[in-house]
Amino acid sequence: MGGYLLTDNAPLKGRNTLRVDARARLLAEIRDPTALPGLLAQPAVAAGDILVLGEGSNVLFAGDVDATVLAMATQGVEMFEDAERPRLRVAAGERWDDFVRWSLARGYPGLENLIMIPGTVGAAPIQNIGAYGVEVAEFVDMVEAWDTQAGAFVELSTADCAFGYRDSLFKRQPDRFIVTAVTFGLPRDRAPNLSYAGIGDELKKMGIAKPAPIHIAEAVVSLRTRKLPDPAVIGNAGSFFKNPWVPKAQAQALQTEHPQMPVWPASDTLAKLSAGWLIDACGLKGARDGDAGISNRHALVLVNHGIASGAELWAFAQKVQRSVGERFGVTLEPEPRVLGHTS
Ligand code: FAD
Ligand code: EPU
Repeated sequence: MGGYLLTDNAPLKGRNTLRVDARARLLAEIRDPTALPGLLAQPAVAAGDILVLGEGSNVLFAGDVDATVLAMATQGVEMFEDAERPRLRVAAGERWDDFVRWSLARGYPGLENLIMIPGTVGAAPIQNIGAYGVEVAEFVDMVEAWDTQAGAFVELSTADCAFGYRDSLFKRQPDRFIVTAVTFGLPRDRAPNLSYAGIGDELKKMGIAKPAPIHIAEAVVSLRTRKLPDPAVIGNAGSFFKNPWVPKAQAQALQTEHPQMPVWPASDTLAKLSAGWLIDACGLKGARDGDAGISNRHALVLVNHGIASGAELWAFAQKVQRSVGERFGVTLEPEPRVLGHTS
């Protein structure tokens, strides 16, 4: 059949950056999005659930997946030169980091703070990827998707996507929308975003006083290389928990007790805490139970030292959640999608 490749009882170990050895009942590698309606109508697929997968850098397979996994492998970038700003329509299966580097190489500013984030372009709107003071929502003009509920291809505007911190319409209704392409509007000119203090320090070290986007990208690459473990070396999914938003009064009370605890403004009534700090303060940085553990480089990163199962990784993550809950009264919510768990 054209447009996709179907495999039964497919291994997922090479398709998730935590390197969990799980299997999918069926796996369809999608090469052409127009094949989606036909594929989804096939009895073996229509009878069960679906799970959309990019590079698997934000999922934890806590068990096998009793569903058809739709792995997005579509490619291509189209450019529309607009009087105001270049618009780029990118296929869902393109690698995000390749696209960032491609845009910078063509002299388009905007995505420099978001360099080196693993994953596909199609997944970028799902949790509204963000790093170093910038979120992708700022550049998303339109998301194209197959809406499984409507049984139709749809185009969603930025407002439709309801983006928030590590949040969107897509995250709240998993697998309803199969994102097939994203159109980005990049500014012709843009003041550098240096709101994350570490970027300024890094630029100073580099001897750059007036940074161009490429310098910021270089500073971010240095920061990320130093701070975050590389999934090619040790299995991980980046931050395992979101930074929690709590009522301002609770944040103030905690900070009075722990003056060195970082607190950032989040909204009129809420403050954002640092999940990494809370986990570190529980003494869990570098802790492990068999092959499941917390990175010794960054306390917010759950790591697979070797052959930890998804269930073992999930059990360890829950242990971390409990420790932070008991010590600080703060509930940590996983950032990656946890699939196939029973508790
Ligand atoms: P997957 O992990 O395959 O999927 C993630 C979610 O998106 C799942 O719910 C999946 O069902 C859904 N999905 C994927 N593709 C589609 C599609 N085409 N249509 C509909 N749904 C889809 N994230 C950040 O925001 N900021 C960071 O700084 C950051 N740093 C990271 C560093 C490391 C080392 C790692 C391993 C991860 C990091 N992440 C970060 C998380 C991850 O890179 C992003 O969430 C990324 O967007 C996931 O892309 P993916 O293709 O791997 O998605
Ligand atoms: N910290 C510790 N111990 C640690 C690590 C961090 O105490 O081991 C404290 C420090 O006080 C540090 C603070 O946590 O200043 C914040 O750490 P960092 O700057 O590394 O950022 P983060 O809040 O842990 C968030 C995102 C990252 C993103 C970075 C940079 C979330 C859940 N995570 O991490 O995104 O790259 O900021 O902007 O919002 C991801 O989502 O997977 C991800 C890696």
